[in-house]
Amino acid sequence: MRPKVFIARPIQQIAIDQVAQHCDVYVHGEDAPMTAVQLAHAVTDMDGLMSVGGNINDELLAQAPKLRVVANIGAGYDTIDVAACSRRRILVSNTPDVLTESTADMAFALLLAVSRHLLQADRYVRDGSWHYGLWNLLWGTELFGKTLGLYGFGRIGQAMARRGRGFSMRILYNARHRVDDTLESEVGAQFVDFKTLLQESDFLSLHAPLNPESNHSIGADELGLMKPGAFIINTARGKIVDEEALIQALKSGRLAGAGLDVFENEPQIHPALIGMENVVMAPHIASATAETRLRMALLAAENLLAAFAGRRPPNVLNPEVLV
Ligand code: 8YV
Repeated sequence: MRPKVFIARPIQQIAIDQVAQHCDVYVHGEDAPMTAVQLAHAVTDMDGLMSVGGNINDELLAQAPKLRVVANIGAGYDTIDVAACSRRRILVSNTPDVLTESTADMAFALLLAVSRHLLQADRYVRDGSWHYGLWNLLWGTELFGKTLGLYGFGRIGQAMARRGRGFSMRILYNARHRVDDTLESEVGAQFVDFKTLLQESDFLSLHAPLNPESNHSIGADELGLMKPGAFIINTARGKIVDEEALIQALKSGRLAGAGLDVFENEPQIHPALIGMENVVMAPHIASATAETRLRMALLAAENLLAAFAGRRPPNVLNPEVLV
């Protein structure tokens, strides 16, 4: 019997076709998240799920007794209860690597946009305010020689370090695990403790996964340790930062600005952020390039098909289910 697979978004047809060669495929027609009830209904009879975020918890799994594979189209899996999946012998995979460069591009784009007032500059030109060259117009902060601090130093953090080096920045990082010397010198990054990272960064860019340890790990105390006039860039997960505390730090001028692709309660945006000129925001699109989104869909398909073929999915998150 061919496995039945539910694909939670209308992803690229080429990826759907690959899955359809081996499975009976059901695609959610709308490019919008499903409610918990809709998702539970959709997977009741499914053997596989290609998810795009969404709460994959014990309650959902209890309603999907046949489920054997969850292939998430995305690197972060903080909304998936992997332990619950393991208990039910469901293989879970994600799509790291393929989105590294586009995510780092976006983090750097936010960094440049906020430090050079790019949005205000664009508005100034469009709205006809530019009548003559002012000496003191939209002065920004330059990157040359400044310190880029990276919280989290996996693939995306390292890709960000390389970009920072290209702009002649000094690179510091803090992460759960220190990388080896060769990699540190290759990307020109120095490991420091969390406190030093906060104290010395002119630009702090977040690249850690969301977990109990990182949740709200940047709060009022941590922001208070940062240099006056520093910037924060977040393309990781909104909940790493205490958003209320961030807003206070931005309002008081303690922080010069923030570049945010992710938010604590996204897609709801804290109303205070909307009116802030020193914040550049994007709707969680760091991995949204045509190239990357195709690679993500294809890799998720590969993970799913490997699981059904009895092979180890390249990005399995709970290999203990295999044995
Ligand atoms: C995606 C992401 O936008 O991979 C991740 O962890 O946050 C992004 O690449 C998301 O997974 C798709 O909704």
